[in-house]
Amino acid sequence: MAELEPIRVLVVDDDSEQRDAVSAMVCAKGYLPEQAQNGEEALEKLGSGSFNAIVTDLFMPVLDGAQLLRTLLERGDLTPAIVLTGFGDISHAVSIVHDLRAFWFLEKPVQPMVLHALLERAVHHERLAREAAMLQRQAGYHGTLLDMVGGSQAMQQVFALIQRVAPSTASVLVGGESGTGKELAARAIHKLSPRASAPFVAINCAALPEHLIESELFGHERGAFTGAMARRIGCFEQAHRGTLFLDEITEMPVGTQAKLLRVLQDGKIRRLGGTSETLIDVRVVAATNRQPEKAIQEKRLREDLYYRLNVFQISLPALRHRKEDLPALADALICEMNAKHDCKVDAIESDVLARLILHSWPGNVRELRNVLERMVIGAREGTLQLSHLPPTLGVPQMNLPVPEPQSSGEFRFREGATLDEVERAYIQFTLSQIGNNKRRAAKILGIGERTLHSRVAD
Ligand SMILES: Nc1ncnc2c1ncn2[C@@H]1O[C@H](COP(=O)(O)OP(=O)(O)OP(=O)(O)O)[C@@H](O)[C@H]1O
Ligand SMILES: [Mg+2]
Repeated sequence: MAELEPIRVLVVDDDSEQRDAVSAMVCAKGYLPEQAQNGEEALEKLGSGSFNAIVTDLFMPVLDGAQLLRTLLERGDLTPAIVLTGFGDISHAVSIVHDLRAFWFLEKPVQPMVLHALLERAVHHERLAREAAMLQRQAGYHGTLLDMVGGSQAMQQVFALIQRVAPSTASVLVGGESGTGKELAARAIHKLSPRASAPFVAINCAALPEHLIESELFGHERGAFTGAMARRIGCFEQAHRGTLFLDEITEMPVGTQAKLLRVLQDGKIRRLGGTSETLIDVRVVAATNRQPEKAIQEKRLREDLYYRLNVFQISLPALRHRKEDLPALADALICEMNAKHDCKVDAIESDVLARLILHSWPGNVRELRNVLERMVIGAREGTLQLSHLPPTLGVPQMNLPVPEPQSSGEFRFREGATLDEVERAYIQFTLSQIGNNKRRAAKILGIGERTLHSRVAD
């Protein structure tokens, strides 16, 4: 029989006592610890062999925890890292979780039970991510998944994750800014799951007043409260054997979150005012456009519910970080609008596309959809031209430098453009020349990747 590969955990700390203590806890969990005294030594070890998880201190000489995580992020190394933090340092730790994609943080002194629970999740997460990457490679590159358009690497990763998680009953937490397609992703998970023929029920936790949300979720019996004239079936029962989409979960009252957690754990609901419990078989997909770590810190989201929902996490990238998807998205949305408004728009001028690429899309795909809807209605047929662009996209701005289409290989801009405009357009131009590879672009331009990100995001 083949031996199971040990689960390897790298413990990084300059304090040898602390390092040994954490290693012993890792051992007690049945995982194999390895030690490094600082970030530099950790990088060496990570470079010469793969680990399933990292537990690292923040403050260390030579190369500290934050620098270690930054380097891993730059290398594209996705090994989940748990960051140890001193008392009173939580907000720093939260920003590290967010900015440097640490897996989670843990306050010292480290409690073995908590470390074990976190390590288990981190290892599970790492395994799923590795499988998803493999599936993605096997499936080859496709530009769409059901109604979702996205040939960019970031979206391909999202598609692979959706395909990976859909067949299971695991809860999924979908993150991403407003308009990035969270609901569309939730629907895709449902449609690709064995539950596809059962209902997909969506409930927006932000849109319901507090006193109604529980009755919406769990239903009520006649007379359960003033105004409950008849029995009402709640979303959980409606979604039986299907999928329940809990949108804007962080806006759900925390008291209701506790009840929701109980329902998810027990698989049973009791209608308000009811005496008996009903078994339910519902797969839950939740969404939020807040950062969950921050929402937990602000006490908007219960940490235990977060763990329960976040069995699998999918983060949708902002449109400004995947502008290479714009042409295909524009085509798909024009098609949709032609059908919706009975129009016959058949193309989009390259000048117009260039403007769309220069825009930062704070409202993401929803904003793009609205812009194109207005343009298609305005044009009715033929080609979308600069004159169809809404004023919010700055048309016509005399001095706006427009990068030349990719194929020309030559950067030009109009006379009178400001240095700032030229810089921004040159960054976009460079990106368009090399398939939007930001790391390469930053190297070519001699600037940091972070600076490049902020310049294209403005
Ligand atoms: N990848 C995509 N391909 C095609 N259309 C998309 C894509 N992503 C989003 N859309 C479209 O953009 C609009 C917004 O998507 P959706 O409602 O799923 O976003 P959301 O993240 O749930 O937004 P919010 O946070 O505001 O609720 C929808 O009309 C959706 O069809
Ligand atoms: Mg939504």
